[in-house]
Amino acid sequence: MTEHLTVVDHPLVQHKLTLMRDKDTSTAVFRQLLREISQLLAYEVTRELPMTTKSIETPMCQMDAPVLKGRKLALVSILRAGNGLLDGLLDLIPSARVGFVGLYRDEETLQPVQYYCKLPENLEDRLVIVVDPMLATGNSSVAAIDLLKASGAKNIRFLCLLATPEGVARMHEAHPDVPIVTASLDKCLNDKGYIVPGLGDAGDRMFGTK
Ligand code: URA
Repeated sequence: MTEHLTVVDHPLVQHKLTLMRDKDTSTAVFRQLLREISQLLAYEVTRELPMTTKSIETPMCQMDAPVLKGRKLALVSILRAGNGLLDGLLDLIPSARVGFVGLYRDEETLQPVQYYCKLPENLEDRLVIVVDPMLATGNSSVAAIDLLKASGAKNIRFLCLLATPEGVARMHEAHPDVPIVTASLDKCLNDKGYIVPGLGDAGDRMFGTK
């Protein structure tokens, strides 16, 4: 993947995203849409996975058939909202290894504070896809990727639902080697660090909290 930012403009992704942005969409529907949209985004973020071939017998003949090459990839969810994207990705890539990074955002400084980290082994040999629905300031994403690189990860992609120009710039500055795949590049951040037009607090909307 060579592009630093890929906005997935597929009509199904855009339609589902509009439904998710609507403040009257219920928690159950929001969660279902997130699962569906993350399957479509998973398709994009894995588009250029390396392939090899394996010899198989079809009912008709032998063939050298394409299969994914290398170690199982790793999905790393930034808690807690990342888990909403994780389910759809695992529908499509059920054998992926899964890691979690717990970061909360200090509401005053907007800086990430780490409270949990559990990662798969051999990160250096895997494609690592970091998932967080909202690339807002970029602070948590940059911190999570710092941590992954310190744990050996070399080939990292970042998948989100919404990104801001500020978040993309911050990521590009800190981790220019990490491509970002998103469903939308939104207008801006407000003074509380929320994405505008956005969809509100992704964690609250998917888990029904406030
Ligand atoms: N996190 C969210 O859940 N929503 C935003 O708008 C920004 C960060």
